[in-house]
Amino acid sequence: MFSKGIFVVTLFILYKITLNNANKEIQKYIDRKFKLHQGYPLDSLLNFTELTAKYGYPSEEHTVVTEDGYILTIFRIIRGKKCQGPIRSPPVLLMHGLLMSSDAWLDSGPESGLAYLLSDACYDLWAGNTRGNYYGKRHRTLNPETDIDFWQFTVNEIGSFDMPAVIDYILNYTSSENINYIGYSQGASTYFIMCSERKGYCDKVQVLIGLGPDSRNTYTKSIFSRLVAKAYQDLYPTLTEVGFYEALPLGGIVQQTIAFFCRDFVIADTFCRALLSMFDSPHPGSAETQTIRVLVGHFPAGTSVKNMVWYSQSLNVDDFQHFDYGTRANMELYGSLKPPAFNLSATTTPTVVISGKNDFLVVPADQEWLTSHLPNVLEHYIVEDSLWNHLDIAYSKLTGKDILPKILEYLSKYSYETDVGF
Ligand SMILES: *[C@@H]1O[C@H](CO)[C@@H](O)[C@H](O)[C@H]1NC(C)=O
Ligand SMILES: *[C@@H]1O[C@H](CO)[C@@H](O)[C@H](O)[C@H]1NC(C)=O
Ligand SMILES: *[C@@H]1O[C@H](CO)[C@@H](O)[C@H](O)[C@H]1NC(C)=O
Repeated sequence: MFSKGIFVVTLFILYKITLNNANKEIQKYIDRKFKLHQGYPLDSLLNFTELTAKYGYPSEEHTVVTEDGYILTIFRIIRGKKCQGPIRSPPVLLMHGLLMSSDAWLDSGPESGLAYLLSDACYDLWAGNTRGNYYGKRHRTLNPETDIDFWQFTVNEIGSFDMPAVIDYILNYTSSENINYIGYSQGASTYFIMCSERKGYCDKVQVLIGLGPDSRNTYTKSIFSRLVAKAYQDLYPTLTEVGFYEALPLGGIVQQTIAFFCRDFVIADTFCRALLSMFDSPHPGSAETQTIRVLVGHFPAGTSVKNMVWYSQSLNVDDFQHFDYGTRANMELYGSLKPPAFNLSATTTPTVVISGKNDFLVVPADQEWLTSHLPNVLEHYIVEDSLWNHLDIAYSKLTGKDILPKILEYLSKYSYETDVGF
C-alpha cells in the first residue's frame, strides 16, 4: 500500500515537471496548429531558423551580449542554396529597420528576400537584431516584463551598444578583420550613431550600404506615421505612469489584430495593402499579397515607447540629434538647452546610399540632407523605378532587379573569395 502511494506521488511529480518544462513548447505547438487551421500562412508563424531551413538555406543562431547586458539573437546563413563558388569575405551584416526584425529579410521569400539573394551570391550573411524586438528581449539582470529600466533606450543605445557588440562578435567568431554593413532605415541611423559615439568602430567596416538610410526626418510625408508617432509623444507621460514602456510588440494587440485580418488573401490584398500604403506610399504590384500575409506575422516586432518618442521628436526638428528631455533636463545631461546633434562627419566609412523617389518616410529632401553631411559618399543611387518607396526595400518582389545589382556592385568591390572554414 505504502510503496504504491509513493509510486503514484512520484509519477505525479515527474508528470508535473515534464509538463512544466514542455509547457512553452507545447503551447507554441498548439497555438501554431490552431492558427494554421484558421488560415494563417505557415511562413508567418515561422522564425528565422525555421524559414531558412524550409527553403533550403541552413542557418545558425548566435547569441550576442552587449556591454550593458542586453542579450541579442542574431543569425547567419551558412551557404546560399544557389551559391556555387567559394564563400566571399568579409562577412556581410544586414540590419533591419524600426519595429522590424531579421525576419524582414525573409518575408518576401527566396526569390526576393535580401538575406536569400545575398547568400545566393556567396556572401557570408549575418542578420542582426536590436534590443527590444522579439529576438532582443532578454537581459543579463533586467526582466523586460517587470523592470522598466530595460525599456530606457532609443536609437542612441542601439547605435552605441548593440551595433558594436554585434560587429565585434562577428569579427571574433569569423576571425575577420572587418565586415561590410548594409543598414536599412533605422539600421543605418544606428550605424551613424555608432560612428558618432564610439570612436574607431567605423574603421571595422569596409563599405556601408544605406538602404533608405534614416537620419533626420524633417520632411517625412507619411501623415499616418506622423499621427502614430505623435500619439506616442502625447501619451508618453501617461503611458509611463500606467507602466507601458514597450511599443508594438509581437503578440501584442496591434500585431495580433493585423495578423488575424491580413491572414485572409482578399483582405490582405485590399485592406492590408492600403494600410501599408498609408504608412508609406502606394506602389501597385510591388509587394506580393503572400508577402503581406507573411510579414504581419513578424511586424511590428516591438521597440521601446521611448524610441517611438525619439522618432516623433525627429519629425519636428531639422537635425539628427539626441533625445530631447526638455530644456532643464537637457542642461543637466548635455550641458545645453537643446540636445546635441550626432556627428555625421564621424561616419568616415566609404558609403553608398540607395534611395527611392516615392519614399514617404525617409523622403528625398532628407536623403539629400544626409548625403550632404556624410564625408565619404561613393555614390548616391536613386532607384530608377519612380514608385520605389521605403517598405519596398524589405518587401518588394522587385528587389532582385531594382536594388540588388547596385548592392552587389559595391559588395564585390569590397570583398574577396575565401574558402577557409567552409
Ligand atoms: C526557432 O524555432 C526553433 C524550432 O521551434 C527553435 O528551436 C528555436 O529556438 C527558435 N529560435 C529562436 C531564436 O527563437
Ligand atoms: C571569441 O571566439 C572564441 C571562439 O570562437 C570564443 O571562445 C571567445 O569567447 C570569443 N570571445 C569573445 C569576446 O566573444
Ligand atoms: C566629428 O567627427 C570628425 C571626424 O571624426 C571630427 O574631426 C570632428 O571634430 C567631430 N566634430 C565634433 C563636433 O565633434
